Amino acid sequence: REQEIKRQFEALEHSNRYFQDMLRSSSERERAIGYLKQRGLSGQIAAAFGIGYAPPGWDNLLQHFAHLENAAPLLEQSGMVIHNEDKQRYYDRFRDRIMFPIRDVRGRVLGFGGRVLGDDKPKYLNSPETPTFHKGRELYGLYEARKHSNQLERLLIVEGYMDVVSLAQHGIHWSVATLGTATTAQHLERLFKLVPEVIFCFDGDAAGRQAAQRALGVTLPVIRDGQEARFLFLPDGEDPDTLVRREGETAFSQRVSQALPLSEFFFRQLSDEADLSSMDGRARFSNQALPLIQSMQPSLLKQMMLDRICEITGLSLEQISSVIDLHQATST
Ligand code: CTP
Ligand code: MN
Ligand code: MN
Ligand code: MN
Ligand code: MN
Repeated sequence: REQEIKRQFEALEHSNRYFQDMLRSSSERERAIGYLKQRGLSGQIAAAFGIGYAPPGWDNLLQHFAHLENAAPLLEQSGMVIHNEDKQRYYDRFRDRIMFPIRDVRGRVLGFGGRVLGDDKPKYLNSPETPTFHKGRELYGLYEARKHSNQLERLLIVEGYMDVVSLAQHGIHWSVATLGTATTAQHLERLFKLVPEVIFCFDGDAAGRQAAQRALGVTLPVIRDGQEARFLFLPDGEDPDTLVRREGETAFSQRVSQALPLSEFFFRQLSDEADLSSMDGRARFSNQALPLIQSMQPSLLKQMMLDRICEITGLSLEQISSVIDLHQATST
């Protein structure tokens, strides 16, 4: 079993090397390199992230591994090839895509994200979950960020592979991306072990704003005194990649330093949804806010947020406690 896992890691590492070779030597290399250049990436940054290219065709990777015994089932377990049960045939999962290797904190390749060079769908294809690859736990770019600096002070959480790579291209080497999934408590617990501050920076669109709201709900039960979470909202239609390319490092960093503290986002969000000038609105506001505050660990921040609710509603803590048990920390 341990042997099997070791073989899978080797297959993924070997695949990664193959994709990087193909970026240099496949007959389609000019298209692939042209794409990366057009997105503003230098060869140096592409190399730092191990970016590669899976050529078109159904069995390039399979053929590359053909000298190995039982290569096809091994590649299937590693998520690199797909087995067609009807035709009893294996074929490459990633074809004609720019390949982003996803590494764990030790630098081992766990899987890949693959992007089409044009507008085909799906835009990104990701490795499936395997016994060694859990998307709710891993973060793209964390290995590279830690490699760049062993004294990280904060980390930016963004949506996409290109956001992480493009930010690094512009000198911001401290961002990570979730892997096409929502931010989980596991992600945050991991990050807070490494840095005292995380800044959520999702795309400037409806999906991004919804992701921020969800991230708020995930952060509240996790955050403790001494830790900080902030929210950076981007102009409509921008993502970290497009914005840092347009504005450059200094302006982007300026935005980061002005990101909303968690409590401000919290109160802004909820008071937008209720009319605080009416008693009914304030009650509605409290009924939405209190369960969220209830989910928090005991902390000074929690106390201050409760105080704020008291100010807004005119109720005392005792009055609120008589309706809601404020210290019952629920787990998500
Ligand atoms: N994603 C995915 N599958 C898709 C689309 C998106 O897994 N079909 C994930 C990818 O991890 C992607 C992230 O969600 O990086 C954010 O999606 P989106 O904002 O649409 O893509 P960008 O990262 O902005 O991609 P690009 O700039 O390359 O167009
Ligand atoms: Mn080989
Ligand atoms: Mn998006
Ligand atoms: Mn983008
Ligand atoms: Mn995007």
